[in-house]
Amino acid sequence: MHRVEGLEPGLYALPRDLDALAKLQAATLVDFDWQKVTDQLPLYHLYSGDFRLTAKNLSCHQPSASDSAFSLGMVAEFSETIDTTPWQYRRLFWECGLIGQVLYLEAEAAGVRGTGIGCYFDDSVHELLGFKDEQFQSLYHFTVGKPLEDNRLETLPAYGHLDGGV
Ligand SMILES: Cc1cc2nc3c(=O)[nH]c(=O)nc-3n(C[C@H](O)[C@H](O)[C@H](O)COP(=O)(O)O)c2cc1C
Repeated sequence: MHRVEGLEPGLYALPRDLDALAKLQAATLVDFDWQKVTDQLPLYHLYSGDFRLTAKNLSCHQPSASDSAFSLGMVAEFSETIDTTPWQYRRLFWECGLIGQVLYLEAEAAGVRGTGIGCYFDDSVHELLGFKDEQFQSLYHFTVGKPLEDNRLETLPAYGHLDGGV
């Protein structure tokens, strides 16, 4: 979390079910305080600090991960899933992609923008969180913030090539 009104900059976790919360608490560094931020969302404060450089480095040194409001890594319950139901390997990535698409839409709806980040260093993400094995695995990154237009790129309206378009 870099620049979000009402939230201290730092490292946060948002476990998507209660079962994952206990597993994550057991698998991560003891330094994390796991303070619930709000009753509306299972968002937990872990560690305060300026994580901009860390976020940038973890996402292949891309400034979009540090110059945003916040960026995130999606962490899946991995080894048990793969050992018991190997066919779910692809599904884990699909699930991350689905969450990413929701983030793209919700960011836009909130008046900001998002960008999926497929280039990241998973081992370094694991080191930051304290993971010792592949119980959890980082599978996708995402960043949300105010956009900078890249004027080197040409942007056309969606479906602009169809009749009636520009
Ligand atoms: C799975 C996935 C991974 C991506 N990884 C990166 C990335 O590492 N760095 C980056 O700048 N953009 C990344 N993007 C964003 C794309 O480069 C592109 O900006 C985005 O899909 C919007 O494209 P559009 O404006 O042509 O629709 C990724 C997008 C997706 C869907």
